[in-house]
Amino acid sequence: MRVYIETYGCQMNDYDSRMIGSMLVGAGHTLVRGPSEADAVIVNTCSVRERAERRVLGRLRHLRGLMPDGAILGVVGCVAQRLGDRLPRAARGVDFVIGTDQYYRLPDALEGATRGNLRVEVEPCHDQSYDARPAPVEASICDFVSVMRGCDNYCSYCVVPYVRGRERSRPVGSILEEISSLVALGTRDVTLIGQNVNSYADGAVDFAGLLERADAVPGLGRIRFATSHPKDLSNRLIDAVRDIERVCEHVHLPVQSGADRVLEAMNRSYGREEYLALVRRVRERIEGAAITTDIIVGFPGESEDDFRATLSLMEEIRFDSAFMFRYSVREGTRAAALPDDVPEATKIARLETVIATQRRITEEVNRELEGTVREVLVEGPSEKNPALLFGRTRTAKAVVFGGPTDLAGSVVATTIEKASAWTLRGRLADDPAPS
Ligand code: SAH
Ligand code: SF4
Ligand code: F3S
Repeated sequence: MRVYIETYGCQMNDYDSRMIGSMLVGAGHTLVRGPSEADAVIVNTCSVRERAERRVLGRLRHLRGLMPDGAILGVVGCVAQRLGDRLPRAARGVDFVIGTDQYYRLPDALEGATRGNLRVEVEPCHDQSYDARPAPVEASICDFVSVMRGCDNYCSYCVVPYVRGRERSRPVGSILEEISSLVALGTRDVTLIGQNVNSYADGAVDFAGLLERADAVPGLGRIRFATSHPKDLSNRLIDAVRDIERVCEHVHLPVQSGADRVLEAMNRSYGREEYLALVRRVRERIEGAAITTDIIVGFPGESEDDFRATLSLMEEIRFDSAFMFRYSVREGTRAAALPDDVPEATKIARLETVIATQRRITEEVNRELEGTVREVLVEGPSEKNPALLFGRTRTAKAVVFGGPTDLAGSVVATTIEKASAWTLRGRLADDPAPS
C-alpha cells in the first residue's frame, strides 16, 4: 500500500512517526508525501491542549475529502489513546484507532483494514521494558533518538501520563546502536528525548551514564537532550553536561510558574526558590549554559500576584527562550476537578504579556553575543533565504550566514554580527574552529 503519515505534537510523535514509517516500509509498504496519492492515511495526533486536539479532529474531517475513494484512514498517537472508541464518533470516517503502545499492530491493522470495518486497539502496555528502533532511512544532520517513553510525574494539568503510560527506559545498547546507524548516514547532532530524561535508568546506567556512553560513539559531533524535570536534575547530570565535550551546554528546564501556590497545585514538587537555586547551580557549574523553559498562564486559581511572580521569575532568570501556553483543561487530570476560574480574556492577556516579556529578554540575551565567535554546526541552506547557510550554536540558537553549501555537516567558527529575538546573523570567522 501507499501510505501517507501526517504528524502533530511533540518530538516524541515525530520519532514515533518515523518508527511507524520504517516498520511499514519493512512490511512492504511505500511512503508517499500527500493524502491524494495514498491508499492509507495515518494521522499521529496530540492531545496536550484542547486546541491541539480540536485541530486534529478538524483535520480528520477534512482529510477524508482529500483521499481517494476507498482509502483507509487510521488515527494513532495521543488522541487515539485518549478517546479510543469515542474517537470515531468525534470524527466520522475513521477506519482504525491505534494507541501509543500498540504500534507493532499497525502492519496487521493496515492489512486487515477495509472501509467501514472499524478496529480500535488502545490497551496500555504493562510491559516495563521498552525498545523501539526505527531503521533510519534518510540522513539528516540533526536527529532525535527516544530514550524513554511515558511519564510518572502526574503534573496536575497534564494528560501525558494518561496517554503515554508509565515511564519506561530503553536499553542502552539499543540506543547506542541507533545513534551509530544515524551517524553512519551522516547525522552529526543527536537529541536524546523523553518526557523526563533525568529519570532514565537501565540497570546501573543513569542518564549521566548514558551521556558518557553516547559520547563514545565515533563520528558523533553534538549531543543534546530534552526534557529535564527540575525536581531531579542532579549535580551528577549537571557535571556530565559540563565535562563531556560533545554534550551541548543547554538545559531545557520547564518551570511552568513562578508562584509557589501555583507550583504546589500543579504538583511540580519544587518551589520558586528551589528552582532559582537550581538555575544558579547550572550557571555556576556550566559556563555559558543556555536555559530554556515552558510556562503556563491561567492555571486554576492563578491570581494577579501569582502571575506577577511568574513575570518576576522570568526577569530574574532571563531565559534564553521559552514555550508559553494558556492553561487548557484536560479531562481526567487532577486539575480538571478545579474550577477553571481565570477568565479566557485574562488568560489571553497574560499570555501576550509573557510572550512580549520573553521576546524582549531573548533579544537582549542574544544581543550580548554580537561580536563574539561561536561554533556553528551547519545544517544546510536557510529555508527563508537559500542563498545563506543555516546552522545552530551549541546553545541551539539559529544562525544564518554566507558560505559554501558543502559546509553542511561541519562545525564552523562564526562571528555574530547582528542578533534579534529569532535569529543571529553571522559571517564565517577567518580561523576554522576545531570540530
Ligand atoms: N515532559 C515535558 C513536556 C510536556 S508537554 C515537561 O514536563 O516539561 C510540554 C508543555 O506543555 C509542558 O511543559 C507544559 O508547559 C505544557 N502543557 C502541558 N499540559 C498543558 C495544559 N493542560 N495546558 C497548557 N499547557 C500545558
Ligand atoms: Fe506532563 Fe509533568 Fe510528565 Fe511533563 S513531567 S509530561 S508536564 S506530567
Ligand atoms: Fe502531544 Fe502526546 Fe507529545 S499529547 S505533546 S504528542 S506526548
